[in-house]
Amino acid sequence: MKYPAFSLSLAFSALTVGLFSCSPQVHPSPQDSKEAFVDSILSTMSIEDKAGEMTQLTLDMVCVGAPYALEEPHRLDTSKLQNVLVDLKVGSILNCGGHAYGPEQWHELIGGIQEAAARKETGIPVLYGIDAIHGATYTSGSVLGPQQIGLAATWDTALVRKFAENAAMEVTASGIPWNFSPVLDVARDARWPRFWETFGEAPKLVSDMGVAMVKGYQEGPSPIAATLKHYVGYSRPLTGKDRTPAWIPERQLRQIFLPPFAAAIDAGAASIMVNSGEINGIPVHVDHHILTDILREDLEFDGMVVTDWEDIKYLFSRHKVASDYKDAIAMAINAGIDMSMVPTDTEFPVLLAELVRDGRIPMARMDESVRRILNMKYDLGLFQTGGFPPSLADYPKKESIEGGAIKAALESITLLKNDGQHAAIAGAPILPLGGSGRILVTGPTANSLNALNGGWSGTWQGTDPTYNTPGRPTAVEAMQEALGENRVSFAELDMAFTSQDVADIARNLNSKNTQCAVVFLGEMPYTEGVGSVEDIELFENQQELVEAIHATGTPVIGVYIGGRPRTLSDIEPLLDAFVMAYLPGDYGAQAIADVLVGSFNPSGRLPFTWPRHASAHLTYDRKHTENVHSDFSLSAFNPLYTFGSGLSYSNVETTSIELIGDSIVNMGDEVNVKVTLVNSGERSSTETVILYSQDRVASITPAVDELKAFKQVVVPAGATIEVEIGVSSNELGFIGMDNTYIVEPGVFGLRVKEQVVEFNLAQ
Ligand code: BGC
Repeated sequence: MKYPAFSLSLAFSALTVGLFSCSPQVHPSPQDSKEAFVDSILSTMSIEDKAGEMTQLTLDMVCVGAPYALEEPHRLDTSKLQNVLVDLKVGSILNCGGHAYGPEQWHELIGGIQEAAARKETGIPVLYGIDAIHGATYTSGSVLGPQQIGLAATWDTALVRKFAENAAMEVTASGIPWNFSPVLDVARDARWPRFWETFGEAPKLVSDMGVAMVKGYQEGPSPIAATLKHYVGYSRPLTGKDRTPAWIPERQLRQIFLPPFAAAIDAGAASIMVNSGEINGIPVHVDHHILTDILREDLEFDGMVVTDWEDIKYLFSRHKVASDYKDAIAMAINAGIDMSMVPTDTEFPVLLAELVRDGRIPMARMDESVRRILNMKYDLGLFQTGGFPPSLADYPKKESIEGGAIKAALESITLLKNDGQHAAIAGAPILPLGGSGRILVTGPTANSLNALNGGWSGTWQGTDPTYNTPGRPTAVEAMQEALGENRVSFAELDMAFTSQDVADIARNLNSKNTQCAVVFLGEMPYTEGVGSVEDIELFENQQELVEAIHATGTPVIGVYIGGRPRTLSDIEPLLDAFVMAYLPGDYGAQAIADVLVGSFNPSGRLPFTWPRHASAHLTYDRKHTENVHSDFSLSAFNPLYTFGSGLSYSNVETTSIELIGDSIVNMGDEVNVKVTLVNSGERSSTETVILYSQDRVASITPAVDELKAFKQVVVPAGATIEVEIGVSSNELGFIGMDNTYIVEPGVFGLRVKEQVVEFNLAQ
């Protein structure tokens, strides 16, 4: 497998390293190929040197104070640096000590770490990794855009690539060459608390977005290495809770969960992080079949595989498949792990070296991992720069990189309902907001920048306002800005508001001449297990709030800020309009306001199925039997909003679909259709044409619909346009009975919205 265009010193071409001098012991000679260079280092390394390279510790382990409780301000501890980086030769450090730092502090920390690393015998620089999942999340003041679920709602892969390129510029400028992003888990269940970190429920959308993000990170002007996570099958635990058992037969694994990883590996992704959970009773960290047979042989991945947080230790402390730490290390490394995100003990490299000396881990296995790690360091140019940060003077100006985040926030906002239910305005869509009356803004997510950003923003949980980007508006502030302060009355609520608070708001409302209420619903940030829930129904107090405002006769617009769909079927009929904003980031408030007042015509489309009922975890690609209701009708698939839903302020209809070419298609040929879109509205509209295939009969029960292609077009006001879109017949297959991919001949449908056309795929 090839390495992408990010190789070598592009990331750190300027060797002006500020405070620090660049003095690694090992210098590639211009004559050496990568292979020769890496071989030459490897041949000089001791078992301890190699064990150190395979070790990743958290920044806390080299700072003053105890892990998870560092002394402020966070600073390096000289004796820990000596112990960890020189004596134990640890090759990788990750993340921050609990919160974001300014670029200067990053430079100081990373410069100090690399200076220490350069003192060890091999002088191999440290590979620093971070979760910069929606911008440089741990660099204060950086550009924070939408989380992945919002990026997916744009359906705009070029924009996502650009956004990732911009993020990489800030990560690189902070001195960090390696990013633990993107998440390529396919979100099939809204209960799972990492839903918002994904590109949604359709493997095709996740794959295309994943490829765009990997290319953005790795092939832009300041490249960083991407990490595909969490390999594989992490997103569908049976209980819906984080890191609990999944039962996924190999066929489904290959059909649904592997394709995004395969696509991103083909696009050149540099590294992979492993699923912390278990599949079919086997923790993925010890699953040789998944980590080696599938990953190395089938997918031909030759990059580096890192564990997730503490996952080797968990093999004995939680999963109970190993009797002690040493056993756990042997199992994981022999299964195919290259680097352990330890991250808070210093025993790992010592035990690993012992295991190799004892012959329980073959030297060849160790060498294979170390070679991959050194290859990655080489590709990132670390041997040229010593891993020292570039000059602070080159830190990108915010104005030059925030365009992608602004556009992504705007394009993500998804208008799900706009039908003017309320008696006073029946028939007329309530949005965009016209008139000049007063508007009540309320709801617990209305005045929180943290709510807009979600997890991994300034801190891991994203809940501490201390680390918010200064000057970015909350939703209510952006509404005041857009509508004028005197048009907006604001009733502030926190998440724990009471029935009394609701009653007060309703009582005050009666006495005012209020045009409508905009109620900001949703969730406050959470990350990983902290977001596991017992119930995905929307909080009772938020439902009560909508009911009470509606009961006053005031029209209600709901705006949902949150990364997973909570069920709200009882109150949804009371909403005159409903807007899904996801976790739109620092520029989200203005994007929401622009959509509400109509200065931006919304174009977002839902990248998942919004369930109507808390236990109905169906996805758009359900099977035909899942359509069968208990009353024997075919109405069992009845989500609140279907996958791909989204309105604009224009009325655009898909009026026809026609095959281009013959209705008999030869195996291997492209099938193309012409789709007609008619805009009878008064505004130009950006539409996403979404093409689904329907396999009429197959040897494995076919899905009702399979997403195959999507294309964005602008339909001018009053215009009729034709759009061509297609799919290769090679992509109409599935994982068959023997767990390999097959394409079967027969009749297929192609669907765009309600329009369907059929063709015959010949033998
Ligand atoms: C998460 C990963 C993350 C890692 C490092 C883990 O707890 O599951 O997604 O990259 O921590 O922060």
